[in-house]
Amino acid sequence: MVRTMFLGTGHYVPEKVVTNEDLTKLMDTSDEWIQQRTGVKTRHHIDWQNEPMGASELGARAGKKALEDAKVSKDEIDCIIYATLSPDKAFPGDGVLVQAKLDIPAGVPAYDVRNQCSGFLYGLQMADAFIRTGTYKRILLIGAEAQSSGLEFADRGRDVAVIFGDGGAAAVLGPNPRDDGRGILSVKVHADGRYVSELECPFPSSAVSPRISVADLEAGRQYPVMNGKHVFKHAVTRMPEVVNEVLAEQGVKSTDLKLVIPHQANQRITEMVQRKLELTDAQLFSNIAEFGNTTAASIPLALDQAVHQGRVQAGDLVCLTAFGAGFTWGAALIRW
Ligand code: UT7
Repeated sequence: MVRTMFLGTGHYVPEKVVTNEDLTKLMDTSDEWIQQRTGVKTRHHIDWQNEPMGASELGARAGKKALEDAKVSKDEIDCIIYATLSPDKAFPGDGVLVQAKLDIPAGVPAYDVRNQCSGFLYGLQMADAFIRTGTYKRILLIGAEAQSSGLEFADRGRDVAVIFGDGGAAAVLGPNPRDDGRGILSVKVHADGRYVSELECPFPSSAVSPRISVADLEAGRQYPVMNGKHVFKHAVTRMPEVVNEVLAEQGVKSTDLKLVIPHQANQRITEMVQRKLELTDAQLFSNIAEFGNTTAASIPLALDQAVHQGRVQAGDLVCLTAFGAGFTWGAALIRW
């Protein structure tokens, strides 16, 4: 059977680095609290004064690097799949914005995926199905987020604001022309809509008219709200569970994995996932200290770094896993 391969990866983050110390000037927090509770030391933010840009620009820059890495021309791309929770516009989605920025030929379809921190894995499942069925041959899959324009840098928003960072990352996917067992073995994604209000950004909302009022803005309803403890508890249950699901389906054990790349939500979450799956330190990838949580960009950004640092070689078993708002979660098992 045809398997889907990663042909290339790339990422782009804005140059501006924001330290925990920088955030202490905006809200009642400390470097010690942020590092102990989350593992984040720095994150990258768009420089809104000097070089404002949206998530689509981060995604396009990452996409360009992935195309170069894959040695695939923009004219060969026959499908775009783009995941974000922070699109440039209410509509249309960022997929078509990236298409125009990268000059990908008119007529190529551009899908927009939501699914927040699990967006890249939802997109990967679609891409894998399209490639295995021969629907498309060269898919550009992007996850990108401009979080810093949507966070409340004040005491009220501090639990959320310290975690998130901006960034984009991308992969070019295509069929493996050889029958050597390499490629995506399994992608499983799940959702549970009972927990929508545990992590959401409720406004602007089409369920009210106008979609956002001055009173809403004054009340800060345009900012994300999170029940951190609740999200934490579900994240450390669902990620190991779905990793075990893909492992069991393929008849492999966690000791067979070369590398697990979890969504970079919180270093304490990553460590609990590690314990539950009985993984060694060498089997786990983490870059949350540098980038924070970049939501849909988090997994492809980590994957791109892991590949270019040589931590993943041809033939290695790699597992990706995510959990986020919705709740949504998933895992992918790849023979690299
Ligand atoms: O991407 C997927 C979605 N997100 C996640 O996976 C996040 C999951 N949750 C978490 O990562 C953690 O719950 C947080 C990092 C958000 C919070 O850590 P926590 O250990 O669960 O802390 P907490 O919410 O129980 O808050 C403990 C204390 C509170 O003060 P009191 O009530 O004990 O006086 C908070 O008000 O820490 C306070 N606090 C802060 N203090 C300093 C909350 N945020 C901050 C902050 N700086 N930034």
